[in-house]
Amino acid sequence: MRLDDKVAIVTGSGRGLGRAYAEALAAAGAGVVVNDIDGDAAAETVAAITGAGGRAVAEVCAVGTAESADALVQRAVAEFGRLDVMCTNAGALRDRTLGKVTDEEFDLVLNSHVRGTFTCGRAAAARFREQGDGGRLILVGSPAGQYGSFGQTAYAASKAAIIAMVRVWSIELAKAGVTVNAIVPIALTRMAATIPDLAEVVAQVEAGAPVPPELRRRGIGTVQDVAPLVVYLSSAESAGITGQYFGFGGDKFAIWAHPKEEFVTHREGGWTADQLVEDFAGFSKHLQSHLPPGR
Ligand SMILES: NC(=O)c1ccc[n+]([C@@H]2O[C@H](COP(=O)([O-])OP(=O)(O)OC[C@H]3O[C@@H](n4cnc5c(N)ncnc54)[C@H](O)[C@@H]3O)[C@@H](O)[C@H]2O)c1
Repeated sequence: MRLDDKVAIVTGSGRGLGRAYAEALAAAGAGVVVNDIDGDAAAETVAAITGAGGRAVAEVCAVGTAESADALVQRAVAEFGRLDVMCTNAGALRDRTLGKVTDEEFDLVLNSHVRGTFTCGRAAAARFREQGDGGRLILVGSPAGQYGSFGQTAYAASKAAIIAMVRVWSIELAKAGVTVNAIVPIALTRMAATIPDLAEVVAQVEAGAPVPPELRRRGIGTVQDVAPLVVYLSSAESAGITGQYFGFGGDKFAIWAHPKEEFVTHREGGWTADQLVEDFAGFSKHLQSHLPPGR
């Protein structure tokens, strides 16, 4: 697949999944603005891309403000003449249970993920409208935003908010020919290494070992496994695919369901609290598990 005339911004692409997305987009021919809060990491991604014959520049800033979002879009236009794809991948993780999470940690996670996605999405959408020929917003969710996830108040709230933006923006931007989708990725990265169950396998894979087949089957693989979905969603071939969130990783591809009412009933005149006590006996069998599958 070729993206020779396309220009993309990937936030948080100094390392991890973002770097794999930037490298794959550039390998397909796109001009890429590499963004990270860490200047050395961003420079390394740019060097890897240009060393392989691709086109990339670094724009070092913390996403989360209108200024940094505008700077990213302006850089894409200044360097490559236009913008076609905004992939809002950047974000920080500070896992703590509700009793322990501080205001500062909560704000850091929300600012980087939610405000980062909001401001970058808004700036890119404005540019897409100006250009008049559509565009691609590729947002990044997480299984943690789809299910309850112990110790992840800020992160789960952020990722659920990002999925809500997919739903809203896919409606708002449809007329402008802008598709809006999210990847719900899993990959063995520095971020995954903070999950106790995965720490050891992340270290092994970093040392060159292959990802065990049973993990790949569960959707857990390398960052390179996830990148083809970003390339596909950036391409003309994915025109018309919008408002979706795709689980992707290892050997697994999934389409997530949108929330829907699972059980509906009616009572003329509505309910009193006492009637609810009575009726809950019948409602109870429809209650949803608050635990992720398999827990
Ligand atoms: N690794 C996984 O299994 C997994 C699972 C679900 C979702 N995700 C999501 O995928 C994305 C990438 O995750 P990763 O595992 O590659 O993480 P990572 O920590 O390896 O990389 C994230 C990058 O973002 C940068 N960053 C952090 N805050 C920033 C900010 N405000 N502005 C600019 N850059 C910033 C970091 O410096 C880092 O280089 C994140 O949105 C993450 O929530 C990852």
